[in-house]
Amino acid sequence: MVNEKLGPRDGRFRLAESSALSATVRLLRLTGDTGAIRVPGQFVSVSVPGKFLRRPFSVCDWDEGWLTLLIERVGAGTELLHALEPGTELDVLTGLGYGFTLRPDRREPVLVGCGSGLSPLVGLARRLRAAGIEPKVLLGFREERARFGAELFPGMDVRYAEDVFKALDETAHDCFYACGSENVMTQLARREKTAGQVAFDVRMGCGFGACMGCAIRTRDGMKRVCTDGPVFEKWEMINEKCSMGNDQ
Ligand SMILES: Cc1cc2nc3c(=O)[nH]c(=O)nc-3n(C[C@H](O)[C@H](O)[C@H](O)COP(=O)(O)OP(=O)(O)OC[C@H]3O[C@@H](n4cnc5c(N)ncnc54)[C@H](O)[C@@H]3O)c2cc1C
Ligand code: FES
Repeated sequence: MVNEKLGPRDGRFRLAESSALSATVRLLRLTGDTGAIRVPGQFVSVSVPGKFLRRPFSVCDWDEGWLTLLIERVGAGTELLHALEPGTELDVLTGLGYGFTLRPDRREPVLVGCGSGLSPLVGLARRLRAAGIEPKVLLGFREERARFGAELFPGMDVRYAEDVFKALDETAHDCFYACGSENVMTQLARREKTAGQVAFDVRMGCGFGACMGCAIRTRDGMKRVCTDGPVFEKWEMINEKCSMGNDQ
């Protein structure tokens, strides 16, 4: 799988289905042209009816003619998206960001998703399995009642964890793919001894590289999650002072 981006491509999508995964999370299935989506971990930018700024969401899974988005209700924009009726048309920019680079040489990967950060791991897991690799899945939630998502990884070894670092230490693996908040992803990259990649779910501004509102600190200076990421290699997050592992 080649990690390239073809976007942004502006497209009209139709909401085919919206289903609840928990009290605050819904899975939206959209139909439309998905030709610009190349690898798991890329994101789309959705124009929310009635809102000026677009909202970014990871592609949860996709194939020709459809994609799914996992949307946690945290504010006015996501509340509007939760309320949409099937049949509604949406303006969606696809093909955004650099996603995960699959490593077929690593046969025992663990996928680590924190909260709604589990979203891009769904399409990733499906593609790893298609390549003959069985991933393990760790889903991190601060509290038991917030848990959701195991059903999106059918037939896989899925575990919920309150402490993903501890759960990761207890899980045999030879590489990792992770997605979540900046704080947890940075810590994870610094603690982990195996090779891996982290996807950052940060607060964005412009979404196209102009404002530096999404910048994170990397070994090579500040980088923009929207145009340089959202996926980064573990080694990009490690500096000399905090390096704990060098398995790249
Ligand atoms: C690359 C990328 C991928 C993302 N993928 C997903 C996804 O798959 N599913 C999903 O549910 N969300 C995802 N997000 C976060 C999502 O974009 C925001 O939750 C959404 O834009 C909030 O819109 P709103 O209008 O509902 O909230 P706002 O009214 O804009 O904000 C409401 C509250 O949420 C907080 N907030 C807003 N954005 C974020 C954020 N990124 N992280 C933490 N807190 C935030 C604000 O500080 C505020 O407190 C992603 C973000 C990025 C950058
Ligand atoms: S959101 Fe403006 S540079 Fe990334």
